[in-house]
Amino acid sequence: MSQTWWRGAAIYQVYLRSFADGNGDGVGDLAGLRARLPYLKDLGIDALWLNPWYPSPMADGGYDVADYRGIEPVFGTLAEAERFIAEAHELDIRVIIDVVPNHSSTESAWFKEALANPAARDRFWFADQPVNDWRSIFGGPAWTQVPDGQWYLHLFAAEQPDFNWANPEVHQEFEDVLRFWFERGVDGFRIDSAALLYKSDTGYEDLDAVHDVYRRWREVADEYGERVLIGEVWLPDQERFARYLRPDELHTAFNFDFLSCPWNPAELRRVIDLTLSTHTPIGAPPTWVLSNHDVTRPVTRYGRADTAFEHGGRLHGTPSDPELGRRRARAAALLSMALPGSVYVYQGDELGLPEVEDLPDELRQDPMFARSGGANPGRDGCRVPLPWSGDEPPFGFGAGPSWLPQPESWRKLTAEAQRTDLGSMLTLYRTALAIRRDRLGDGTMTWLPLGEKVLAFTRESGLTCVTNLGPGLVPMPAGEVVLASGPLDDGALPPDTTVWLTAS
Ligand code: GLC
Repeated sequence: MSQTWWRGAAIYQVYLRSFADGNGDGVGDLAGLRARLPYLKDLGIDALWLNPWYPSPMADGGYDVADYRGIEPVFGTLAEAERFIAEAHELDIRVIIDVVPNHSSTESAWFKEALANPAARDRFWFADQPVNDWRSIFGGPAWTQVPDGQWYLHLFAAEQPDFNWANPEVHQEFEDVLRFWFERGVDGFRIDSAALLYKSDTGYEDLDAVHDVYRRWREVADEYGERVLIGEVWLPDQERFARYLRPDELHTAFNFDFLSCPWNPAELRRVIDLTLSTHTPIGAPPTWVLSNHDVTRPVTRYGRADTAFEHGGRLHGTPSDPELGRRRARAAALLSMALPGSVYVYQGDELGLPEVEDLPDELRQDPMFARSGGANPGRDGCRVPLPWSGDEPPFGFGAGPSWLPQPESWRKLTAEAQRTDLGSMLTLYRTALAIRRDRLGDGTMTWLPLGEKVLAFTRESGLTCVTNLGPGLVPMPAGEVVLASGPLDDGALPPDTTVWLTAS
């Protein structure tokens, strides 16, 4: 792959705790991931993004980092992480890891030092009284009191104290952390909560000073060559969003407008056009994201009457038609893989896993659930361990019961059950990714006018992608069918179906 491999890459997101368990303790780990690298190679992805793998008390699934230079013992060791990076590289798979610069863990050395010594508190936000009425993004207050009476700020859980980016030591620390991992071979970082680092009297979202941080990080990344910085930037304002992708800042950022978009032709067209017009002038490639470890699984979302994603109540428990959801998720997968830029696949979406909505409350681990007093079910439902094989839980995930229980019905959705089934979601993903590798990815697209309910465009390779979001059959443009997300009807494209064609 070229120097700019990241411009068109297909990136598979590994939520390590739930991917594969190599040692039988019920939690996914590096041993499990290493054993499944052939599966990922066969799937046809270019890179992996791993959620945080650092030592952590797991108050927020690892986003409470106690030590940025180590590996959580439940996941493995640093030596094993290095072996994993080397093995992935041998298979021509790049490795992207998460870095969490907005906050730390109450178990980090710096926070423990701050607790023990009030003179060592400047790396965090401590005050005698809460200086504002901010609420935690997970619910509840954003300030927590320590035993000596002072308070500290945490935009997320109380176990995740926010760093003070006005302190130069924090800058130095993170530059060192980037280097630590670049030197161990990682190909890039996904930057958690990337727009939230600075705080002022007026707020914390997207303050201008944050751009200096990413300019500096870009210089560090560039020293190592072919490395990528990817921002988790949720911002409604496209102009502000684009500032993160200027040529001397981050390489790419997640497209959350696309992820949140309802299954509606006008809305999707609007978001695609907006994405292109935001990215093209600055030369940054768009990204296409349908899902991740924070949002409702697409097959469930697309089977509902309201198909948009929203963080608040997550439409938990609203009826979802599994057949409809599956059909649309297949169509959406082909659409997202055909658009110009890079594409993300969240683990388990290639198996068509639904959101698990009936987890018993006492098993829910996401702090969002507890901090909202149960009003928000949280994100555990999209984090249930993957089903690999066999007829009963834990479906080859590991030797023992998995940390969140899998539904019995997943016996039909195991990777093993889908591998040789030509109509399976796994076969669709594998076939599409193979075609995408040669003919899609980075570049441009041209819309074809096929009506209001149809999204149709061609790519430089001559491949045309057509998605029917209307209620009736639509005639297909002339051409040879390369791949379709569902059965075609005598040359016509049925509702909620995507087809890839080449001119015949
Ligand atoms: C990001 C992560 C999410 C985490 C939060 C706090 O949004 O994707 O999982 O809870 O940041 O670190």
